[in-house]
Amino acid sequence: MSKKIFITGGCGYIGGGLIRKLLDKGFQVSCLDLMVYGDKAVRSLSNHKNFSLIIGDIRDKKIVNKCLKGVDEIVHLAAIVGDKPCEAAPKAAYDINHNGTKILCELAQENNVQKFIFASTCSNYGISSYDEFAKESSPFNPVSLYAESKIDSENYIKNIANKNFKTFSMRFATAYGVSHRTRFDLTVNSFAYEAFKTNKISVFAADTWRPYIHVNDINNIIIETIQKNNLEENHYTFNAGFTKENFTKKQIVEKLIKHVPSLKVDYIPISNDKRNYKVDFTKIEKFLGLKNEFDVSIGFKEVLDALKSKTIDDKTYINSNLESLTQFFKQNSKKLEY
Ligand SMILES: NC(=O)c1ccc[n+]([C@@H]2O[C@H](COP(=O)([O-])OP(=O)(O)OC[C@H]3O[C@@H](n4cnc5c(N)ncnc54)[C@H](O)[C@@H]3O)[C@@H](O)[C@H]2O)c1
Repeated sequence: MSKKIFITGGCGYIGGGLIRKLLDKGFQVSCLDLMVYGDKAVRSLSNHKNFSLIIGDIRDKKIVNKCLKGVDEIVHLAAIVGDKPCEAAPKAAYDINHNGTKILCELAQENNVQKFIFASTCSNYGISSYDEFAKESSPFNPVSLYAESKIDSENYIKNIANKNFKTFSMRFATAYGVSHRTRFDLTVNSFAYEAFKTNKISVFAADTWRPYIHVNDINNIIIETIQKNNLEENHYTFNAGFTKENFTKKQIVEKLIKHVPSLKVDYIPISNDKRNYKVDFTKIEKFLGLKNEFDVSIGFKEVLDALKSKTIDDKTYINSNLESLTQFFKQNSKKLEY
């Protein structure tokens, strides 16, 4: 009998591709999602015999309890994602990101789920030194409610792990690339869009560092973690990415110029976003023995090609850039409170 995997927030940027890969590997998959962005990411799977979609909130104990019958492992993606969206709906964001995670874990234990994989973020490191790579043991310096909600959840998850309930906090790098719900509030994707549309980009704080990861590589990491057996520890914390994929924004722009040689770049030294971190991914690289399938240059090409061929239209950008998302969460903050 194949394992039953329960994904929360599976209708988002990461989830759509993850669910398809899991189904291709023969897993049974169910997904609970509030449909903040609709069901486009999974719509074409509605008749798949091994897939079920439940529309609901991770804070709804009754629904979650029902969803967890017979589940072996959970991948917890549901969240309000990003600094600005969380700021725009702070009460709902903390409640979903932290209290929602607690509810899910409590019910998971009651339902004998064996493994819980939590999507955390390298944003937890916030502002770190230019010279050092952040390791899992490095101090946090969060600069947002988003990161704080993830740190509080990590602490909770670590403490409730036991030999029957193995938990993973995966601090993912910043994603890029095309998915079934492509986001344009992310650096690589939004640079590609602006370069394509206007042949011009504005780059704030070009010397700040960040690790990047293709959305499909995130999914490869999650799937390898699902398949990993004989776990010695009850809880694992991982920086989830690839060490050679740390770049400054300027280095990213140089990669983009190779695809758009006529690009005009306006460098602006200041930025409201104070985050700056380089991250060491040696621990996960050793644990899973995985290499990245994609890199930032491939990501740029992929997004540019999708725009050229109109596989991604302007509407996708308009609905998913940082400004629209922030506005959306501001307008819907009350509705998202539970
Ligand atoms: N995209 C990145 O760069 C990145 C990087 C690091 C970590 N992460 C983490 O990975 C996870 C997934 O990210 P994503 O980019 O796919 O986000 P996304 O915003 O595209 O998807 C999140 C999904 O969660 C759902 N959701 C929100 N609140 C919910 C609730 N209360 N109940 C049920 N469903 C709810 C939304 O409807 C949406 O489909 C998040 O936890 C995020 O913090 C993402």
